[in-house]
Amino acid sequence: MQNALADEYRRLSRDTTTHQPLAYLRLRRAIRNVIQHRDIEPGQTLPSERDLSQALGLSRVTVRKAIAGLVEEGLLTQRHGAGTFVAERIVKPMSRLTSFTEDLRARGLHPRSEFFERSVGEVTPEESMALNLSPGVLVVRLHRVRYAEDEPLAIERSVVPASVLPDPHEVHDSLYEALEHHNCRPVRALQRLRAVLLGARQARLLHVTTGSAGLHIERRGFLDDGRVVEFTTSWYRGDIYDFVAELQTD
Ligand code: GLP
Repeated sequence: MQNALADEYRRLSRDTTTHQPLAYLRLRRAIRNVIQHRDIEPGQTLPSERDLSQALGLSRVTVRKAIAGLVEEGLLTQRHGAGTFVAERIVKPMSRLTSFTEDLRARGLHPRSEFFERSVGEVTPEESMALNLSPGVLVVRLHRVRYAEDEPLAIERSVVPASVLPDPHEVHDSLYEALEHHNCRPVRALQRLRAVLLGARQARLLHVTTGSAGLHIERRGFLDDGRVVEFTTSWYRGDIYDFVAELQTD
């Protein structure tokens, strides 16, 4: 692994297209890339700070700074006395507005979706409240199970104004990629989380037993001008996801 990382770091140092003058940011990207390429697997240990600084000719402060950033992002975890590991559970920082697809790709996993529903219809009273839409307006509905490779991780139901995304079949795997295509990817979101017990149907779809712990999440995503572009309700498997939030005093 150390060799793969050293090769990647050197490659980035030579690469003029992605040139990153700051060594700790270059190293951060190199570690991210080797995780993404699965040169190092979830649960495996990263070489020690000392080994990395020797192999790459970097100061330990630089190596520490690169690692700290990835711990904050949730890609690495540290256990006192045992070292630094590639995170096994999917640790999702709550303060960053990323998509399911991006979260999984960053961990070298292949995200995919299986749709139950991709339709256009008139907004329901509940959806019109969530999306700030007038009655009668058209919305796109997507209902899908989200997988990492063959493992189901979440069930999601998204509602998007059809004025933003007219055709639900534009969404293949990623809703945010489709929204980006229309320059309408949310820039801000409000999210509400609560613990739930998964019902029989949800449990069957997520390959867990009925009554397993799950996380129920509602996200309203906003554009710069304040319009709501997404109202998504998700049920995540509680045994795989960790949501972490950084808290600050005023
Ligand atoms: C997460 C969020 C959803 C959002 C989705 C977009 O799962 N909980 O609110 O719609 O990401 O992900 P993607 O672009 O992969 O469809």
